[in-house]
Amino acid sequence: MTKKGKTTPIKGWPERRNPAAPLATNKHLLKWVEKMARLTKPARIHWVSGSEEENEALLGQMTASGTLTKLNEELWPGCYYARSDASDVARVEDRTFICSLSKDSAGPTNNWEDPFQMRRKLKSLFSGCMTGRTMYVLAFSMGPVGSPMSRIGVELTDSPYVVVNMRIMARIGVHVFAEIDKDYQRVVPCMHSVGMPLARGKKDVPWPCNQEKYIVHFPETREIWSYGSGYGGNALLGKKCFALRIASNIARDEGWMAEHMLILGVEDPKGEKTYVAAAFPSACGKTNFAMLIPPESFKGWKVWTVGDDIAWIKPDANGRLRAINPEAGFFGVAPGTSIKTNPNAMKSLAKNSIFTNVALTPEGGVWWEGMTDTPPESCIDWQGRPWTPAIAKETGAKAAHPNARFTAPASQCPTIDPAWENPEGVPISAIIFGGRRPTTMPLVFQAFNWSAGVYIGATMGSETTAAAAGATGKVRRDPMAMLPFCGYHMGDYFRHWIKMQRNLTESPRIFHVNWFRRGPDGGFLWPGYSENMRVLKWIVDRVRGRALARETPIGWVPHYEDLYWKGLKFSAAQFDELQRFDREDWRREVIGHEELFLDLHDHLPPEMIYERELLICRL
Ligand code: OXD
Ligand code: MN
Repeated sequence: MTKKGKTTPIKGWPERRNPAAPLATNKHLLKWVEKMARLTKPARIHWVSGSEEENEALLGQMTASGTLTKLNEELWPGCYYARSDASDVARVEDRTFICSLSKDSAGPTNNWEDPFQMRRKLKSLFSGCMTGRTMYVLAFSMGPVGSPMSRIGVELTDSPYVVVNMRIMARIGVHVFAEIDKDYQRVVPCMHSVGMPLARGKKDVPWPCNQEKYIVHFPETREIWSYGSGYGGNALLGKKCFALRIASNIARDEGWMAEHMLILGVEDPKGEKTYVAAAFPSACGKTNFAMLIPPESFKGWKVWTVGDDIAWIKPDANGRLRAINPEAGFFGVAPGTSIKTNPNAMKSLAKNSIFTNVALTPEGGVWWEGMTDTPPESCIDWQGRPWTPAIAKETGAKAAHPNARFTAPASQCPTIDPAWENPEGVPISAIIFGGRRPTTMPLVFQAFNWSAGVYIGATMGSETTAAAAGATGKVRRDPMAMLPFCGYHMGDYFRHWIKMQRNLTESPRIFHVNWFRRGPDGGFLWPGYSENMRVLKWIVDRVRGRALARETPIGWVPHYEDLYWKGLKFSAAQFDELQRFDREDWRREVIGHEELFLDLHDHLPPEMIYERELLICRL
């Protein structure tokens, strides 16, 4: 594990606590690691090389300690299973803070604390918090190593679970340390602790965490401090904390965009590829859409996956937007994922994956609601209790937590786009916004132009889901699906979107979709899943100037005959119901927009006010 065979111990740090030599020589990094070690007092420091052997050792160690269970190698090769503490199952939005110097820069949609006070609080929380544990020094690159669009972070964490998950979700290890040695300026420091020091001789628990949680971002100094949780976006700091909250600040300053978007490429029968990015709130089917398999009647059409959650989008030298997926894996919601709903996800997660809070079957496999039509006769649920279909019927107990996740390497996805690691990114021709809306929103409409499209994204709403702690099933405004992820004032973020177009020679077309509209009987009006290809084809054809549309007060919509229907029995009357524009619903909708805008008004760009007025006039 030594770099070029040389050991560079931290000065004054007991050698026995520092068995592994640092893997970087950069003195700023070494100094920071030393300072943080003095604060958190770990028993030892481990510089993460990212090697196969190291990963095996960490997995083995966690299997021995009870954090992980190795799954049946024949059924689930290279796969592991974890159960979290029952109180640590989702992102904690009410414990997430943007500590900018002024409260006004964070805006009303973020929790804000004075950065000086927060630093004091963090200092006391982190003081000695890694006692008895190992501090892992985890260098990671968001985006392919060496790409001009990539960014580097270093996470100091006391959670080996975080290390093995980050190894799937990002590029980690010696190659990243080598980049840091070239140029330290680009590194975002990320502090993470589960917040459970281990007293000498005390036995550890399988999922250490703390009831007190703090997920803190300092946008000016580009720093992240996360305390008390080991779960998902709270702990895998490259994802939401870095690639969205901190990156949205960097992007605003540098003239690019960090978005909560999937990226996919649609290949038509002539082999022509059109890339689109789509923003849907958490747990609204981004992974399914990113891995869509067209219905059989779509001869010669293919959908390629670039990313399923985050897009970094930047104008290129020719004034076109290009996007990279900064992640290297999928951290997907397991319940509802099946061979029927998303075969590509099932193939991606079939090996070398980590499952958290799903159910464990007697054969040493995993199961979750919706994975198969028939549930297993019995299993162990996500809280370690026996579960049977009869128990579920009687008590309503779920075998898997609704926010149970798989962590799977993107490279294992059968439809991964050949250009997914292109350092220059892929060209984006369309942007799609969408929410989970039981009423009001038609299946699809196209914005009249960029600023009307920004208004549609800005006023997006969706029913809440289990991805975040709190009530589910209420419609909340979730601008561009970024409500929990925009690291600065949402009004300034809309202004940044408006300004982005000024540097473009060709702006992507903007669309809104809703797969979740319900009929009077409460059932979904649209079959969704692979049938969404019909909408995607219309979008691609619109972008390419091949499809017709009809003007309505909210935008352009397809006629029934503008969509390709071969292979699906769906009548014009059904389509009309699905696309129905209800003036009364829309009047209520605009009042909902007003509620969000009232909070943001002193930072709103004028375009948002004009677009709203125009919409009201058309209604
Ligand atoms: C996610 C989320 O995990 O949006 O991707 O919550
Ligand atoms: Mn997400």
